[in-house]
Amino acid sequence: MQPLRKILVPVDFSTHSAEAIRYAADLSRRYEANVTVAHAYQPPEYAFPEGYLLQKASDQTARLAMLERQLAHCEAEARAAGAVRVESKLIDGVDSAAIVRFAEETEQDLIVMGTHGRTGFKRAILGSVAEKVVRTAPCPVLTIRAGADSRKNFAAASPSAPGSP
Ligand SMILES: Nc1ncnc2c1ncn2[C@@H]1O[C@H](COP(=O)(O)OP(=O)(O)O)[C@@H](O)[C@H]1O
Ligand SMILES: [Mg+2]
Repeated sequence: MQPLRKILVPVDFSTHSAEAIRYAADLSRRYEANVTVAHAYQPPEYAFPEGYLLQKASDQTARLAMLERQLAHCEAEARAAGAVRVESKLIDGVDSAAIVRFAEETEQDLIVMGTHGRTGFKRAILGSVAEKVVRTAPCPVLTIRAGADSRKNFAAASPSAPGSP
């Protein structure tokens, strides 16, 4: 295994990505690895029959400021959870492609992300962003499911599983 020096945590500010931050922070503490918390965002463009109209500049500035505040909050959460070195980054681009490109360019050793996100279509094994990142990432990807204790759920769903009461 490559030394674990750099961990990327792509966040969409959902409970799943909050859980991913806690995992990454714990790994950072154990391996003294850097954590980068990153959100991919591309300003929307609204199409009209007569052409394209950009979003109002003031709306856009407010949106970017809010994302920066949310990222700063995630950075603080990572620190509070024990991460030794943390930074945050707003990546310009469309979710999975932008995340994978950033991981390549910055030579990340591991990506830690939620199995699901804000859309939270529970019956899918992975959300669409998570699935594309797992398929195309240049490094291992650890996916984290928030909420229930997954081992307890597994035992409950499989009464004959070895070691279950
Ligand atoms: N725009 C984004 N920027 C960074 N990370 C993201 C973004 N969207 C999703 N993620 C990451 O991917 C995980 C899974 O989200 P996603 O695949 O979009 O699931 P869903 O379809 O439920 O929204 C999130 O928990 C987060 O870690
Ligand atoms: Mg999503």
